[in-house]
Amino acid sequence: MIKPAAKKKAMRSPPTGDLEMSEAAAELERLAKEISKHDRAYFERSAPLISDADYDELKRRNAAIEERFPALVRADSPSLRVGAPAASGFAKVRHSRPMLSLDNAFTEEDVAEFLGRVRRFLGLAEEELIAIVAEPKIDGLSASLRYEKGVFKLGATRGDGTVGEDVTRNLRTLADIPTVLQGGDTPDMIEVRGEVYMRHADFADLNEAQLKSDKRAFANPRNSAAGSLRQLDPAITATRKLHFFAYGWGELSSQPADTQFGMLQRLKTWGFTINPLARRCGDLAVALDVYREIERGRANLGYDVDGVVYKIDRLDWQARLGMVSRAPRWATAHKFPAEKAETIVEKIEIQVGRTGAMTPVAHLRPVTVGGVVVSRATLHNEDEIGRLDVREGDTVRIQRAGDVIPQLLGVVRKRSPRGAAFQFPERCPACNSPVVREEGEVARRCTGGLVCPAQAIERLRHFVSRDAFDIEGLGEKQIELLWNKSLVREPSDFFTLKARDGKTSEPPIAEWEGWGSTSAANLFAAIDARRAIALDRFIFALGIRHIGQATARLLARTYGTLDAMLGAMAAATDAASADYAELLAIEGVGPKVASILIAYFAEPKNRKLLKRLQKELSTEAVAKPANNTPITGKTVVFTGTLEKMTRAEAKSRAASLGAKVAGSVSAKTDLVVAGPGAGSKLKQAQAFGVKVIDEDEWLRMSEGWVGASSATRKATSAVS
Ligand code: IVH
Repeated sequence: MIKPAAKKKAMRSPPTGDLEMSEAAAELERLAKEISKHDRAYFERSAPLISDADYDELKRRNAAIEERFPALVRADSPSLRVGAPAASGFAKVRHSRPMLSLDNAFTEEDVAEFLGRVRRFLGLAEEELIAIVAEPKIDGLSASLRYEKGVFKLGATRGDGTVGEDVTRNLRTLADIPTVLQGGDTPDMIEVRGEVYMRHADFADLNEAQLKSDKRAFANPRNSAAGSLRQLDPAITATRKLHFFAYGWGELSSQPADTQFGMLQRLKTWGFTINPLARRCGDLAVALDVYREIERGRANLGYDVDGVVYKIDRLDWQARLGMVSRAPRWATAHKFPAEKAETIVEKIEIQVGRTGAMTPVAHLRPVTVGGVVVSRATLHNEDEIGRLDVREGDTVRIQRAGDVIPQLLGVVRKRSPRGAAFQFPERCPACNSPVVREEGEVARRCTGGLVCPAQAIERLRHFVSRDAFDIEGLGEKQIELLWNKSLVREPSDFFTLKARDGKTSEPPIAEWEGWGSTSAANLFAAIDARRAIALDRFIFALGIRHIGQATARLLARTYGTLDAMLGAMAAATDAASADYAELLAIEGVGPKVASILIAYFAEPKNRKLLKRLQKELSTEAVAKPANNTPITGKTVVFTGTLEKMTRAEAKSRAASLGAKVAGSVSAKTDLVVAGPGAGSKLKQAQAFGVKVIDEDEWLRMSEGWVGASSATRKATSAVS
C-alpha cells in the first residue's frame, strides 16, 4: 500500500541544485534513514510502504546530491549498497578495501619459505631479524566494522571479499563490539576487522535448545555463528552469545601505530577484545614455539582454532609487501594438522569435470571428522588409486583439512576376500565418448566436449559458483534438475528461466516438490541480481582451461571491456600482430595459454554462446586498485637491474597503483623503467618512442602513493 505522506514528502523536497552544503548533509542523512526504512519494509517484511517509482525517486535524489557534494557521501549511504539487497534480505556493502584471505602453510618448512619470500621481496639481508605477530586463527567468520568519529556505523560480513552483507543491527548485539570507541587517539574513520565466533559451551546449549524445539542442530560452532549472525531479526542474534576478536583493520583515516602489535594494543584500549594468546615474536623460532604452545592448549581454549596466523610486525613492510591474488604477502596461516578418521569404501565412481578430466571418487560409509559428516573422498587420478591400492570394501583412513575435499590417506584393513582392482573406464560413463590420457598429464579425459552432459553440468555449476557468478540457490541438485528437465542447457538459459517458467511442458518451478513460491522468487531474484557482473568474474565463469581467477583478473584489467577483449582475441589469431604480443605480455599467459584462449574465442559455438549471454547481461569493467595515480591504466615494463627495490616489489607496486605490468615492450607500452644493464628492451622502447625513466624517477613517481589510504590519495591528487 502507498502511504500518501511519504509520497508528498518526496515531491515537496527542494531541487537538489538549490541546496547549501549544510542542507545537503541534513538531506542525505534523512534520505539514508528513509531509504533504509523502505528497504527493510520491502526486503524483510515484503510490505513496501511506497511505490517502486517513488522509491527510485528517493535513490535518484540521493545520488544527485552526492554527485554535487562528494565529500558528504555517508558511510551508510544507500549508494554504497550495491545492487538490490540479496535474496537473503540483507543489503550488500562494498568493502572500501577488500577483505583478504590467507595463504596456508602446513609445515615448518612452509613457514620458513614464507619468511624467505618476504626477505627476498624486501631485499633484506640474512642477518636482519623479522619480527612477527603470532596469534590463533579463529574458526569463525570475519566481519568489518566501520567507525566514524568513534561511533559504530556499519558492520558487514566478508561475503566474497569485495562485497559483503550489511549486518550492522546484528553486530550491535555483541558485547565485544563497542558502540563508541574509548580512549583519545581514535582515527576519524576506521574499519576494524576481526572474527565472529561461538564458544563450545554456547554452541552445545544452542543445539540442545534447537533440538528441543524440533529445529535442526548446527554441524559445528562456525556454522552456528554464521547462522546466528545472518538472522533477519537482530533480537534472535542477541540471544545467541556470539563473540568477536579484533585482529586487523581495513580503511583508516590515520595510522595510530607503526606495528601490527602496536595496532592490537590500540584496538584493546579502544574497547575491543583481542586474543590473549597473540604474541610479538623476535624471530621464526619464537613464532614456532607459540604455534606449538597454542596447539597443545587447543582443546582447552573453549572455542575452535584451526591454526596460527603469522603477520609481519612492521606496517611499512606490510605496505611494501602488498598482496597477490587476494592474500597479503605479509601474512600466512600455519594450519594445525588435519583431523583424521577411519571408515569403509562402499564404492569407487568416476566424476567428470567441466574440462573432461575424470576423477575417481570414493563413496564412504558416512563418518564425522572434525565436526563434519564426510561421505566422499577424492582419489585424484588413476596413478593415485594404483599407489594406494584401494578397493571397494576396504577400511581406509581419511583426513579433512579446512574446507577442502577430504583426502584418502591409505588402506588400514583390506576386505577379505579382496574385491577386484578398480578398472579405469575406456569410455565416459556419462556420454560414452572415448577416454584419453594426454601426454605429460596424470588425468584421463572424456573426449565428449560439448556433447557430454556431465561436462556441461559441471560447466554450469562452475558458472554459478562463488567466485564466478555467485548465484545463491543453485547447487548441484538444482542444476541437475534443471538440466534433466531440459530447462537449462547453457549459461544464458539461467537468465531466461523466469520468462520461460510455466510456459514449457514442465509445471512452474514454484510447484515443484520442495520448492514453493518463495524459493522460486528467491532464485529468480538471485539470478536477476547478476545481470550486471564484473568482467573478471565473467571471464572466470566461462571455465576456459587454465584460466583461473588470477588470469581472469589480469585479462579484465588488460582489456577493460568484453568487446575490447573479443576484438583483441580475434586479432591475436595472427601471431605477428601487436594484439598477440599484448596477450603474451600478460603475466601467466605463455604460448600454451594464449593458444587455448584464442581457440576458445574463435570457436563458433563459443561465440554464439557469448552472444546469447551478452543479450541477457552486461559486464562491468573491473575495479582499478587505485585511481588517479600517475600510472593508472598505463602499461609499464621494468628492465635492467633495480638497485633500491626488488623486481617483484616494483611490479607489485606498479600493479597496486593501477598499472599493467608487461614483460615485453610493444607499441602499446606507456612507460619503461630502465636500470643499469638494460639492453634490448631499452632499445625497443627508444624505437617505439616510449617514455623511459630510471629507478630514482620511478621511486619519486610512485612513493607518495604506496600504502596511502584512499583519503590521503585523494588529497595528494588534488594538489598535484
Ligand atoms: S588476518 C589480511 N587473523 O581467516 C589477512 N584472519 O583464511 C586476513 N581468521 O578471512 C585476515 N583468525 O576470517 C586474520 N587472527 C586472524 C584470524 C583470521 C581467523 C580468518 C579470517 C580470514 C581467514 C583467512
